Amino acid sequence: MELDDLKSMVLKCRKCPLYKFRTNPVVGSGSTKKGIMLVGEAPGKKEDETGLPFVGKAGKVLNELLSKAGLKRDDVYITNIVKCRPPNNRDPTEEEINACKPYLDIQFAIIKPKVLITLGRYSMEHFQKKFGLPRESISRCHGMHYKIRTLHSNLLFVPMYHPAASLYSKLIKERSMNDWEELGKAIGKYLK
Ligand code: URA
Ligand code: SF4
Repeated sequence: MELDDLKSMVLKCRKCPLYKFRTNPVVGSGSTKKGIMLVGEAPGKKEDETGLPFVGKAGKVLNELLSKAGLKRDDVYITNIVKCRPPNNRDPTEEEINACKPYLDIQFAIIKPKVLITLGRYSMEHFQKKFGLPRESISRCHGMHYKIRTLHSNLLFVPMYHPAASLYSKLIKERSMNDWEELGKAIGKYLK
């Protein structure tokens, strides 16, 4: 399967109730060339309107964080664990995450990222489970560099705070800037 086939599957998906509220599902966007994949939580209002991930306020913060690591939006592929917007931006439910996460697993299998960065708790927990890592809280493991071996490849897994958290907490913003700067120093050797 290619990313385009996945896109047509998601466009007509009705596997969970969120399809009723969406204008556009947000499948993902950006470049898969470098092998850097970012996974957020769920689309917000602007994302639902445009069908693109991280184009609102949190997206502005994300751009700032990326630049701390010496990266541009064009260098990365961005998606979310849930593809349709939950009403009023509430947290996605466990059922919604479970219904939607097979799409993320397909994206992961197609892209085979060399560097996988999760944004926030939900996508972090998904990959902790997938990689057989202990369930640690984001306040403990944000910014850590996990070297993962899968059947098909080796990759660097880095759980980051959700960019929106930086809008509400100065401390998290400082920690995030530091985490992304550290990632920038290390990322080169994983992209060969
Ligand atoms: N927050 C997310 O987690 N994803 C988006 O695409 C936008 C905001
Ligand atoms: Fe399908 Fe995911 Fe949208 Fe639910 S959130 S309808 S599972 S694409």
